[in-house]
Amino acid sequence: MRKIIIAGNWKMYKTQTHALEFLQVFKSKLNETEELKEVVLCVPFTVLSIVSKNLHGGTIRLGAQNIHWEEQGAYTGEISGTMLQDIGVQYVIVGHSERRQYFGETDETVNLRLLAAQKVGLTPILCVGETKQQRDTHQTELVIINQLNVDLSNVDQDNLVIAYEPIWAIGTGETCAPVEANSTIALIRSELANPEVTIQYGGSVKPDNIDELMKQPEIDGVLVGGASLDPVSFARIVNYS
Ligand code: PGA
Repeated sequence: MRKIIIAGNWKMYKTQTHALEFLQVFKSKLNETEELKEVVLCVPFTVLSIVSKNLHGGTIRLGAQNIHWEEQGAYTGEISGTMLQDIGVQYVIVGHSERRQYFGETDETVNLRLLAAQKVGLTPILCVGETKQQRDTHQTELVIINQLNVDLSNVDQDNLVIAYEPIWAIGTGETCAPVEANSTIALIRSELANPEVTIQYGGSVKPDNIDELMKQPEIDGVLVGGASLDPVSFARIVNYS
């Protein structure tokens, strides 16, 4: 049985005060989650500690937004898997399109980060997806297969989450039609050695489209940016019906 994972990606938002305010409201709005549904908050490094302390062993898991591939060393500004694990992190986003686009991350370094996360027992959430131009020129399949080939080299598929995030749908309000997301996710699954990997959809997920997205048989959860910043809207997404 594939695990359902609803993850929020706060990106570069929220101070400690705002994180605490979020948690207070969010926790009060959560329905009892079934054992198979996991909720993850991927927060900035600067609030990992305070969020970790305020989860109180509940059902919410802590996630980071990036990881360096070395355990320690002279890498100014970077954070290692050991450091993340030390602070209570269980999940880490790897290869988000914003990292690839603005910070020059390549499939090769994405692969190194995935391996580093698994080495210390973290579960990586690998993001893949095509640009608008690639989609318009019918290259979606090719782009995703190429990403997976390099990204997943030697990666343990028993401890992995994949997020299909079409870049044209991220932060644009333009959601990929649930049926289209479903078929691209089916394609991703067909490329995997382990068909039980949880595969999420990400890109302008909101309270008003979550129910339809989650009805799709291949979609095992969502990775939510903008709508995860507001506790009421993120709770509505987690409590999808
Ligand atoms: P969005 O972001 O929900 O704001 O489109 C999704 C993501 O970047 O993971």
